[in-house]
Amino acid sequence: MSDLASLVVAGVLGVIGVVADGEAGAEIAPQRAQALEHMVRQDCGSCHGLSLSGGLGPDIRGRAIEGLETRALVEVILDGRPGTAMPAWRPLLTEEEALWIVDYLRAAGSE
Ligand code: HEC
Repeated sequence: MSDLASLVVAGVLGVIGVVADGEAGAEIAPQRAQALEHMVRQDCGSCHGLSLSGGLGPDIRGRAIEGLETRALVEVILDGRPGTAMPAWRPLLTEEEALWIVDYLRAAGSE
């Protein structure tokens, strides 16, 4: 296997490992992380409040979601909550990015 091919395989395995593990920090390029943070504050914030402390949608900062499993939160973000205003974000986000957002939400409110 060429060096490049083994690098690619290692990268893919790394991504699968992070997603399967769930609790490990998602690895997102800094620039994409900045875009995601902007999205959380603006788009999610339009319903959950600019400080994410609640609006049309509930408070989604660290303490408010500490009882919820990471897996369940990733699913709500990707698939929404049918029958509620919470939309599905799957068209815009990968699983890893949703995981990054959950990490971000867990840290929010304690800054
Ligand atoms: C159009 C309004 C709207 C937008 C935009 C929105 N949400 Fe929501 N969200 C809601 C509502 C309403 C609920 C509560 C659903 C329910 O009653 O179970 C919710 C629920 C949630 C929950 C579950 C909270 C809990 O306590 O169960 C999470 C997590 C969440 N949203 C994250 C996000 C994220 C992250 C984004 C942006 C990517 C986002 N939401 C954008 C309206 C919105």
